[in-house]
Amino acid sequence: MSTEEIRVSPNWLALREPADAEARALDLAEALELGSPTGGSKVIHDLGCGTGSMGRWLAPLLAGAQHWVLHDRDADLLALAAVDAPGPAADGAPVTVEAKRTDLASMQVRDLSGATLITASALLDMLTADELDRLVGLCLGVGCPILLTLSVIGSVEITPADRLDRRVAAAFDAHQRRMTNRGRLLGPDAADFAAEAFRRLGAEVLVRPSPWRLGPAHSALAAEWFTGWVGAAREQEPELAAGCEPYARRRLDQASAGDLAVTVGHADLLVLP
Ligand SMILES: C[S@@+](CC[C@H](N)C(=O)[O-])C[C@H]1O[C@@H](n2cnc3c(N)ncnc32)[C@H](O)[C@@H]1O
Repeated sequence: MSTEEIRVSPNWLALREPADAEARALDLAEALELGSPTGGSKVIHDLGCGTGSMGRWLAPLLAGAQHWVLHDRDADLLALAAVDAPGPAADGAPVTVEAKRTDLASMQVRDLSGATLITASALLDMLTADELDRLVGLCLGVGCPILLTLSVIGSVEITPADRLDRRVAAAFDAHQRRMTNRGRLLGPDAADFAAEAFRRLGAEVLVRPSPWRLGPAHSALAAEWFTGWVGAAREQEPELAAGCEPYARRRLDQASAGDLAVTVGHADLLVLP
């Protein structure tokens, strides 16, 4: 059982931000804009904001003044989010930001009061079923739309193919679903779990694929992703270690030569209560 609190490195978030921006489903942002009342400013709460990449992507796609409330339990990431604020809005309206140190596990509906939109990105797979169930109830209690992007779904395609790919992928998925002192993490099951939980409570849920497509232009991200992917697989299945060394070397050589293409599956959810 893992007892660590999962901390996310700011370098990793910076490296993935452009690929995240390319991957998120634009039509869900458009649906959000079409459905939002004209006039009045938006109050957007971003849960597990990290360094604030969601706001930097979404704020310029939405019209009208926006106030973003950025929540994270990691004070170092929050400090970065506060200085690299998003905006301006699509029509040039101002975007303001407030950073709040929040543990989602103890967040209350009153912490989200006044929200006109709730967002999260690359968060759901880090939660347990109980934590996600609670978050679903909390968000629906506010009554505004909820945009949840970039939850991993356990699909990885690597070109050229290698006979170890499937074994490493299975060990990685098992690592994502590992037991922690908070319970078992949902990992690749989180998007389906969330969609079902929202629908059970009567909400409409739109689901879109939002894969990373990493080619030669993303070779640094592909190499970093691959290193983390294999590392997690080896932690889960230590007996993989011997076979993994030459495999990892081969793959990293391919990445630096621009010969590695990776598609990492994600799902985006727009929830309309
Ligand atoms: C993979 S990062 C994604 C960050 C950002 N949303 C993005 O897309 O770049 C997940 C973030 O969720 C935060 N997080 C995870 N569990 C949390 C919790 N229980 N309370 C508050 N923040 C949490 C982490 O600190 C981290 O910043």
